Amino acid sequence: MMAAAEEPARAAGNTRSWQDIWASRSIPPDGSHGLADLIAADGYDNSYAAISVQRWRDHAARWAGILGVRSGDVVYEIGCGAGAFLACFREMGCAVGGLDVSAALVGLARRAIPDGNFRVGEATVLDAVGIADVVVANGSFLYFPSLEYAYQVTEAMVRAARRAVAILDLPDETRRSAAIAARQAELGVAEYTRRYGGLDHRYFRREDMTRHLTDLGCAPVWTDDVRIEGYGNAGFRFDLVGFKAAADD
Ligand SMILES: C[S@@+](CC[C@H](N)C(=O)[O-])C[C@H]1O[C@@H](n2cnc3c(N)ncnc32)[C@H](O)[C@@H]1O
Repeated sequence: MMAAAEEPARAAGNTRSWQDIWASRSIPPDGSHGLADLIAADGYDNSYAAISVQRWRDHAARWAGILGVRSGDVVYEIGCGAGAFLACFREMGCAVGGLDVSAALVGLARRAIPDGNFRVGEATVLDAVGIADVVVANGSFLYFPSLEYAYQVTEAMVRAARRAVAILDLPDETRRSAAIAARQAELGVAEYTRRYGGLDHRYFRREDMTRHLTDLGCAPVWTDDVRIEGYGNAGFRFDLVGFKAAADD
C-alpha cells in the first residue's frame, strides 16, 4: 500500500528494493504482537496509509461478507506479510495459511497465528489445487515485478481456490498521475523523492484484470473502488473479485 512500507525508503543512490524493505520489517521489542503491531509491520503505519485497528477489522469483515466466508472455512493469502489480514479471519473461526517472500514477516505471522500454515517464498511458487475456500491478496500485487508475474499468480490463485479469489488494493492505472501528485502534495516533492525515488508501484487496468479472471473461468467478476475510510490510497486503488463457476462448487 503506499503502503506499506512508507518506511523511509531510498534516496537517490540508495539501492534498497521493496523486497529489502519487506525483509527488514519488524515489531518493536516492547510490542505485544497484537493486531495493531501486525498492521504496522505490514506497512500501514504512516500518516498517509495508516489504517486503525477498527477500520482494519471492518475491512476484513466486509470482505468476509462479500466472499461468503464462514467459521470453518479455509482462507489462504498471497503476500500475507505478518498476517494482519489473516488474523481477522482466524478470529472469525477460519483456518488460515499464507505465502510471503519476507522471512521476517512470515516469522511474525507464525508467532501471531501459531496454527496457521505459512510458507516463505515468491508468490509464483503457489502450485496447489483447491486448498482453500477463498484465496486473497491484500496489498501485495503492487510490489510484483511484472504484469506477467501478476497474471501467473492470479492463475495459481484461481486453481488454489474452491469458491472465490479477491485481489485487493490494486493501484489503478488511470489514476497513476493523481496518486503520485497526491503523495507529493502530502510529503513535498523532495521528501517524496527521498522516500520513493526508484521504488515504483505496479499499476493495473481494471478491464485487463477483469478479462484475465473471466478468461480463467471466474463468474461473476467485478471491480470496485477501495472502500477503507481514512486510508489515503483508497481514492487511487481498486479491488478485484472473482467467483468460481458453480460447476466447481
Ligand atoms: C503491504 S504488505 C501486505 C501484507 C498483508 N497482505 C496485509 O494485508 O497486511 C505487502 C506484502 O507483500 C509481500 N510481497 C511483495 N512481493 C511479493 C512477492 N513477489 N511474493 C510474495 N510476497 C510478496 C511483501 O513481502 C509484504 O509482506
